[in-house]
Amino acid sequence: MATQLPGSIRDRFPILERAVYTNSCSQGALSNDVRAAYEQYMTDWDDKGAPWELWVEQAEGARARFARLLNATPDEIAVTTSVSAGVSSLLSGLRHAEGRNKIVISDFEFPTIGQITHAQELLGSKVDHVAAASDTTIPLERLAEAIDDETGLVAITLVSFRNGSKTDVKEVIRLAHEVGALVLVDSFQGVGAIPIDVQDLNADFVVGGVLKYLLGSSGLAFLYCRADLLPQITPTVTGWFADEDIFKMDIYDYSPSATARKFESGTPPIPNIYAGNAGMDLMHEIGIAATERHVGRLTNQLIEGLDRIGAKMVTPRDPTKRGPMVAVATTDEQAMVAALKEDGILTSARDGNIRLSFHCYNSEEDIESVVAGLERHSDMLVR
Ligand SMILES: Cc1ncc(COP(=O)(O)O)c(C=O)c1O
Repeated sequence: MATQLPGSIRDRFPILERAVYTNSCSQGALSNDVRAAYEQYMTDWDDKGAPWELWVEQAEGARARFARLLNATPDEIAVTTSVSAGVSSLLSGLRHAEGRNKIVISDFEFPTIGQITHAQELLGSKVDHVAAASDTTIPLERLAEAIDDETGLVAITLVSFRNGSKTDVKEVIRLAHEVGALVLVDSFQGVGAIPIDVQDLNADFVVGGVLKYLLGSSGLAFLYCRADLLPQITPTVTGWFADEDIFKMDIYDYSPSATARKFESGTPPIPNIYAGNAGMDLMHEIGIAATERHVGRLTNQLIEGLDRIGAKMVTPRDPTKRGPMVAVATTDEQAMVAALKEDGILTSARDGNIRLSFHCYNSEEDIESVVAGLERHSDMLVR
C-alpha cells in the first residue's frame, strides 16, 4: 500500500470512530473485511448446505497464507485452533537424544508455554527458567549460560505479553543450534506487526495466531515446523485431520501425515478460518514492514509523551528491544484501564502495568489522546 499509514485504512475499522483503540496486543480491531468474511461463511452454509470441499479449500487457503506470511512452504505449516494445541502436539512427539531432556524457557513466556513444558516433566523432561534482568530484557548471556548440551529445546517468546520486551530470537536460535538444541519461537505478540522470515531466522518451530496483529478472531493459529525436522517427530496428541489420508477413515492404525499437518487435530475451525484469511489478506495488503515502521514512529512519539508527563515506562527504551506494545507502571492497573475506558481509550493490563499497543490503524492523534488520558489520571501513575 503506497499511502502513508494510517491514512484511509482507518475507515475499514468502525470501532475507530467511537474509541481510541490501543489494545491490539489483546485482540485486533474488527475490520469490515473480517465482518464480511463471517457473513460469507453463513451465506455459504445457508446457500450450499454443507460445502465441505469449499471449507477444506478455505483451510488450505489459511495454510498457504501462513506460509506466505512466514516465508515457509505450506507443508511446513499446521493450521491449528490455538498456540496451545500446536505446542501440545509438537511436544508430544519430540523425542530428544539421550541426555538432552532439558527444556529452557524464559520467564517472559506465555502461561501456556510454561504449563505445557512443565507437563513434560511427567514424561522425564526438566524445565530450566531464565529470569529477566532489571532492565526488562531476557539477557542473551543468561540464555547462553542455560542452553547447554543437555538441552533438547528452548522456548522463547519474540515479544513479551507482560511488558512488550522483544528478544533477539535469531541470536537465541544461533546460540541453541551451536550446542545442538532446537528452538520454539512464540511469535504471537509480534506476528502481523513485525515481519517474520523463518529462513532468515533459521527457525525450527514458530507458533502464533491471528487474533491480535493479524486482525482475525480467536480459534485460528499456526505451527511452523522446518521441513527437515518433520520425519523425526511423531505426535501422540493427534486427531483424524492429522492422518496421512483423512478420507480413509481408518480405525485400525495411526499413520500421521508426513507434512506439518501431522500436528493438526479434529475438524478445522471453518468460521475462524474465513475471518483469519480475511485478516491476513488485509495485513498483506497494508504491509507488515510498513506497519512495523509506522508503529515504530508511534511508539517513539508515545515515549516522548510519557517522558513529558513523567510516567514510568516498563518496556526497554532501546527500539531494537521493543515491539508494538509499551507498558507503563501504574499503582492500580485495573483502575487505570477502567478510567481510560470511560474516556473512550481501550487498553489492557498485566503485572501492575497498563499495556498500550499500536497497529497500522493507529494515528498520531491516538498517541496524543493516550498521553493526555494518562496525564488526566496521573494519580495512578508510578513516577
Ligand atoms: C505470547 C502469547 N502466546 C500465546 C498466547 C495464547 O495462546 P493460545 O492460542 O493457546 O490461546 C497469547 C495470547 O494472548 C500470547 O500473547
